[in-house]
Amino acid sequence: MRKIHVDLEKQVDESYDINLSSGFIEDTLSHYEDAFFLADSTVYAFYGELFQGRRTFVLEASEKAKSIESVISVLEFLHDGGCRRDGTLVAVGGGITGDLGGFAASLYMRGINYVQVPTTLLSMVDSSVGGKTGVNFLTSKNNIGAFHQPKAVYIDTDFLKTLDDDEFLNGMAEVVKYGAIFDADFFDMLLEKKAEVIARNQDVLLEIITECCRMKAEVVKEDEKEQGVRKLLNFGHTFGHAIETDSGFAVKHGFGVATGMYLENMFGLKEGYCSEDSVKRLSEILDAYGFDKEYKIKDKDAFFAALSADKKADKKGLTVVFASEIGKAEWVSGIKADLVKDFYC
Ligand code: GLY
Repeated sequence: MRKIHVDLEKQVDESYDINLSSGFIEDTLSHYEDAFFLADSTVYAFYGELFQGRRTFVLEASEKAKSIESVISVLEFLHDGGCRRDGTLVAVGGGITGDLGGFAASLYMRGINYVQVPTTLLSMVDSSVGGKTGVNFLTSKNNIGAFHQPKAVYIDTDFLKTLDDDEFLNGMAEVVKYGAIFDADFFDMLLEKKAEVIARNQDVLLEIITECCRMKAEVVKEDEKEQGVRKLLNFGHTFGHAIETDSGFAVKHGFGVATGMYLENMFGLKEGYCSEDSVKRLSEILDAYGFDKEYKIKDKDAFFAALSADKKADKKGLTVVFASEIGKAEWVSGIKADLVKDFYC
């Protein structure tokens, strides 16, 4: 047998910087005069002046609009505006905008540059970093997409000043996740500094966001395509995505993840994958920040169909992540959906 190895590793340098500070975005965007902009409707309403005189597509910021149809609209916008292969799409908004914009950028002319300007806490700490792009399709979350790394990420914490409380808490769920799976000291700090966090102390928030991005960057560097350690970032997401879907997206991503983390660890406790202390401390922090730990399923069949259709599932079963101890996580594959069903029903 002859073999020809096509070595694609490191042929393209995909490195980029995550730039974090406050009050710098207007100046930075002035360096993107020729770019195409994708702005989410909420950001556009608050910060319309940022887009004055720029080619801008305004996207409705809802999970329902995170669709292949919206991607086609963005592709038309790029095409009609004469975007070429060396063009750049700058996505300014929350996770929906970043994921959708990144996916459109990955498709247009087989991939153009894109830049992430996350404006929500959730997108700052998670979705803007790491190159996962995509949209929801039929009954599942984020089930079509591509890995396409941004050229740069600009995190301006001033955007958080206009974020509503619900959306802020939505992001805090992902922040708690980092502590639960990777760093017990960070986890404890989130409890100790809860008052400052809730008051949106800018220094504390910048520290927290920087720390989350540092953890995420390490993970992505080690495992860009989620063959190993990156799977841990899915803690809470197996249940979380099913909750979001079952609720018709009335439950936002972070809230689904918060409940999902708790339920996954409760299931893990029953199956021997995590400690009682882990469940107890997770429960404590979720209570402190006011997250729901329970979710009443609306349609059991649809819920378990969504769970089984999870991207991480394969023919052997589900893959579920557990925070075995606070600050330490593992994933377990081949878990039968029926076992989860027995636990939950
Ligand atoms: N949001 C999880 C990841 O980027 O891998």
